[in-house]
Amino acid sequence: MTVIAQLSDIHFGSEAEGEAQSLVEELNREPPDLVVLSGDLTLAARTDEFEKARAFIGALKAPTLSVPGNHDITPYDLFERFTAPYRRWRRYIGLDLEPTWCNGTAAVVGLNTARRMRFRLNWSHGSLSRGQIRSLPSRFAALESSRFRIVVAHHPFLEEETDELGERPRVMVARAQDALAAFAAQSVDLVVAGHLHRTYAAAFEGPPLKEATDDDSRHRVTTVQAGTALSARRRGEENSFNRIEIEDRILRVYRVARCESGWQRAAEPLAEIEKQVA
Ligand SMILES: [Fe+2]
Ligand SMILES: [Fe+2]
Repeated sequence: MTVIAQLSDIHFGSEAEGEAQSLVEELNREPPDLVVLSGDLTLAARTDEFEKARAFIGALKAPTLSVPGNHDITPYDLFERFTAPYRRWRRYIGLDLEPTWCNGTAAVVGLNTARRMRFRLNWSHGSLSRGQIRSLPSRFAALESSRFRIVVAHHPFLEEETDELGERPRVMVARAQDALAAFAAQSVDLVVAGHLHRTYAAAFEGPPLKEATDDDSRHRVTTVQAGTALSARRRGEENSFNRIEIEDRILRVYRVARCESGWQRAAEPLAEIEKQVA
């Protein structure tokens, strides 16, 4: 079985005392094949927060794949924000802002949706450029299509179907629909993201695979959002991360929540995907 843990929105600088250690112990108990960190590793991109993030990654036995979130670009040092927004990220987390990882059953492609600025009032909302979308075929070309294809980004692509909090609609990443269509064209099975500090799954149906026939089969892209792994900004949920398990051509995503007794994996998966063989 291939196991990938997806941690999001850790926000080092706002974590409760001792919680990072508890998460490290949980992840090292039976190390997954990969730990994905889908952005917002820090609260405000301060150096001491990045140092904590580096120490956390260094303490994990599993390899990691990280993409930046909006909080990982400094809001205080505007010169750095505009001239070298990823200087600290590259120093403490990794040089590659869009890394790739694969084994025999899964291929994981990172996308950076954080932006130093946008022509909008709120710069925290992410964006995917046309160039990033155009580059998807070449990024997937070297990765066998028999593997589960997983995209990791910080910002969300699909809304929650029923929003129990009844809050105003949340903003999705810019060009989300174009990106989802491109993901479907590349047979991406799963997109994992964060930013909202809410756990949910949703699905996007691509166009008919066989045009002008009665066959209406489509490629489905499942999106799964993770809650915040350690931050106190929990939006009504416990701290949690997601655990992706792949076995016998089936991928399941489970929420693992921080309970009094420790980290507890849900009995029922948030999402289940059977690999569609082309
Ligand atoms: Fe966040
Ligand atoms: Fe965020």
